[in-house]
Amino acid sequence: MAGTGVFADILDGEVYKYYADGEWRASGSGKSVAIVNPTTRQTQYRVQACTQEEVNKVMEGAKVAQKAWARTPLWKRAELLHKAAAILKEHKAPIAECLVKEIAKPAKDAVTEVVRSGDLVSYTAEEGVRILGEGKLLVSDSFPGNERNKYCLSSKVPLGIVLAIPPFNYPVNLAVSKIGPALIAGNALVLKPPTQGAVAALHMVHCFHLAGFPKGLISCVTGKGSEIGDFLTMHPGVNCISFTGGDTGIAISKKAGMVPLQMELGGKDACIVLEDADLDLVAANIVKGGFSYSGQRCTAVKVVLIMETVADTVVEKVNAKLAKLKVGPPEDNCDITPVVTESSANFIEGLVMDAKEKGATFCQEYRREGNLIWPLLLDHVRPDMRIAWEEPFGPVLPVIRINSVEEGIHHCNASNFGLQGCVFTRDINKAIMISDAMESGTVQINSAPARGPDHFPFQGLKDSGIGSQGITNSINMMTKVKSTVINLPSPSYTMG
Ligand code: G3H
Repeated sequence: MAGTGVFADILDGEVYKYYADGEWRASGSGKSVAIVNPTTRQTQYRVQACTQEEVNKVMEGAKVAQKAWARTPLWKRAELLHKAAAILKEHKAPIAECLVKEIAKPAKDAVTEVVRSGDLVSYTAEEGVRILGEGKLLVSDSFPGNERNKYCLSSKVPLGIVLAIPPFNYPVNLAVSKIGPALIAGNALVLKPPTQGAVAALHMVHCFHLAGFPKGLISCVTGKGSEIGDFLTMHPGVNCISFTGGDTGIAISKKAGMVPLQMELGGKDACIVLEDADLDLVAANIVKGGFSYSGQRCTAVKVVLIMETVADTVVEKVNAKLAKLKVGPPEDNCDITPVVTESSANFIEGLVMDAKEKGATFCQEYRREGNLIWPLLLDHVRPDMRIAWEEPFGPVLPVIRINSVEEGIHHCNASNFGLQGCVFTRDINKAIMISDAMESGTVQINSAPARGPDHFPFQGLKDSGIGSQGITNSINMMTKVKSTVINLPSPSYTMG
């Protein structure tokens, strides 16, 4: 159970502690932040409201710890990550319980998130050993005017302190996708979890603590964005920021100093359906892609662009599947669970009402109870409706009927987002052409968008982000190249 057994240390009465200098601590602020359960809409947990002074202390500790960690052999860093991964998987049940209570993730998916996270950490350890174990040797005589008298040895070195800010929808998985690469590459890591999801993240951090990482190397500060948000992202001690979330990321990128940024800021992933597609496959992927975790995934299908000739058939198939979805609490493993906050539910409702006023066809009756919104397919959506462009992050999906592929590509590319997209057709040549034409970081052919498997590159264009994630890309991003040049007194030619 959360906060008990090996996790008892992380709880101080009713408030979860923050993690600094290898210890669990109560904030000197004496204040806490409430975490509201999306299902009950009652306070479920409390976390510390850390102060700016505490953030400063964390940064000082991280700086010292990082220096020693960078001198720790790579194989030892990997060994500790493997240990943390095993502990994380061993304690999947209490961590999943937090995900159910804090973010209303269906119970089965919550367990999957923790197991996937353990696998991600192990894979990162293995990948790190390979790619960081290799460097480059360059010789000077390939560049005009040079003899072979300079040998350049380059390798990857850590950046220093990485600040990780994951989103509410994957507070464990999208935290370890930053923590693992940062640590294997020799960095220290400061985690600022989302408020909803913070308790799951604190449990996850405790697994790293139990694995025996040096004190100060990993820290986790909780609290109000208004108090420590900007303070963290603009802190002079931070050498790299990895953020996943909404358009706060745009503000962060404007304020952050000269540090590498990795940002993933959402999407309006288009699903283009051609006439020759396997329509059963299309319907299954629209439902899975648009409605899993109630549409609260940056990679969810967020607009269907379908050829008019097959639209009726697909809409009918999707409706039949939606009717079978179980709607209710996450504890009962329902397919559709309450969205994360009341304000999210209100925002979704605003998009739905706008579409209603402008004449969209409601394939189901709009129904909402508290934060719980029943799945809804909106047909005959037109570009003048907000839902054609905005990201609901909820279980409502617009369908725009098109008369040509060009029309679909035009709508997709007119979006300010460009995370992922998908195209359904049996014609591979067309699929490749459409993929090339879509301004999205990734295009899936004949499947719904998805970030995983977690070692695949994952990146957004335009307002969807900066940089590329995925295990290898994140490790590389959290390092810089260091060169040493050996200058010989006279040219030396091998076997000359
Ligand atoms: O919400 C953003 C996540 O990166 C999506 O991940 O495709 O595994 O659901 P997912």
